[in-house]
Amino acid sequence: MKERTQVGIIGAGPAGLLLSHLLANAGIESVVLEVRSRHYAEGRVRAGVLEHGAAELLRASGVGERMDREGLVHRGINLQFAGERHHIDFMDLTGRTILVYGQQEIVKDLITARLQAGGQILFEAEAKGLGGIVGDRPLITYRVEEDESELGCDFIAACDGAHGIGREAVPATVYERVYPHGWLGILARTPPAERELIYACHENGFALHSMRSPDISRLYLQVAADEDLANWPEARIWEELRLRLAEPELRAGEILDLGITALHSLVLEPMQHGRLYLAGDSAHIVPPTGAKGMNLALADVQTLARALAAWYRSKSTTLLDAYTRSCLNRVWRAQQFSAFMTGLLHRTPAGDLFEHRLQLAQLSYLTRSRAASTSLAENYTSAATAMDGGT
Ligand code: APR
Ligand code: PHB
Repeated sequence: MKERTQVGIIGAGPAGLLLSHLLANAGIESVVLEVRSRHYAEGRVRAGVLEHGAAELLRASGVGERMDREGLVHRGINLQFAGERHHIDFMDLTGRTILVYGQQEIVKDLITARLQAGGQILFEAEAKGLGGIVGDRPLITYRVEEDESELGCDFIAACDGAHGIGREAVPATVYERVYPHGWLGILARTPPAERELIYACHENGFALHSMRSPDISRLYLQVAADEDLANWPEARIWEELRLRLAEPELRAGEILDLGITALHSLVLEPMQHGRLYLAGDSAHIVPPTGAKGMNLALADVQTLARALAAWYRSKSTTLLDAYTRSCLNRVWRAQQFSAFMTGLLHRTPAGDLFEHRLQLAQLSYLTRSRAASTSLAENYTSAATAMDGGT
């Protein structure tokens, strides 16, 4: 079977879906190919913090209604260390808030919006090969069950995440850092113990308290990157969370999702080759400590959609040619902040006590100096989406 569209998009994560939505708003047709089922894509539990600019982007593009109804506006975060809790008030420091709203909810909202508008998302369709990238007739070969088909297009957007095929087709320099840390994450039916997020630096390791609703908490513990889940029976998880977060009353609840993710940083330069463009996790991975992954993905496709719209309007390649350059400021800003937050809060594997004392000194400075806390607030609220890579 042969089909044609204007932009062939691989991946129905936040990047691929928002790109398809933004292109449709600009009158440009696309087809999204997604290897997983709709049920799987909508159920996958991931990140949950939107920068001010990312929430604005979703709102302005017409998919912010449920987000604004159900998302939780947070005016700051808490830092927990040395037995004390300190609130960093982003609103006071920068005039900006953040929005806590699960990535899977954004995925659901975007899928609904695309399908209602007659958009094409092919689920359980695996992209297997890319052709014609350096010419002007690119082609995606994909498979649904046993049937192989071709999707011809003007451009290919590989929004296929960390394990897709897009990345391999770009002759790029890969900048990479592998951390010895992992995060054991749970989604649990228990009320959040605190109104806003808690980032905890504890001698036993980092812990994070986040949430999805007044009844659902999202909680994380630092573990070794290669940790075996079998070492973490539920009782141990709750006990360790209470200790590291200094929340002795944190109530155990039904665990709805449980997994371990190894921390990893990666950037591909360039993020494009011929008529192939990478966006989101296919082009860069950040450790989750700064909550930047989803924000970067959304900002990439905003840049790409504008560049594609300019091409369809006037055949101008100026913005398309500048795509990598436009993204990389933001990407490296977010990498730097994510690496900083990771180093600030995680226990070194050898339990280096000197390092722990340095972390405490830095944390103390961050909470006492208005200049230092403003820097943290600027990065947390806008590093990934500010178009100049600044604030
Ligand atoms: N063919 C079709 N679909 C594919 C293929 C393929 N060969 N390979 C991967 N995919 C799909 C995956 O199943 C997934 O649904 O591409 C999608 C990529 O989506 P995400 O992994 O969510 O990536 P992205 O949209 O870039 O969003 C980045 O995800 O990991 C988090 O922290 C990260 O929040 C950030 C966000
Ligand atoms: C989340 O809510 O899942 C979350 C919040 C903040 C982070 C990472 C994940 O830094």
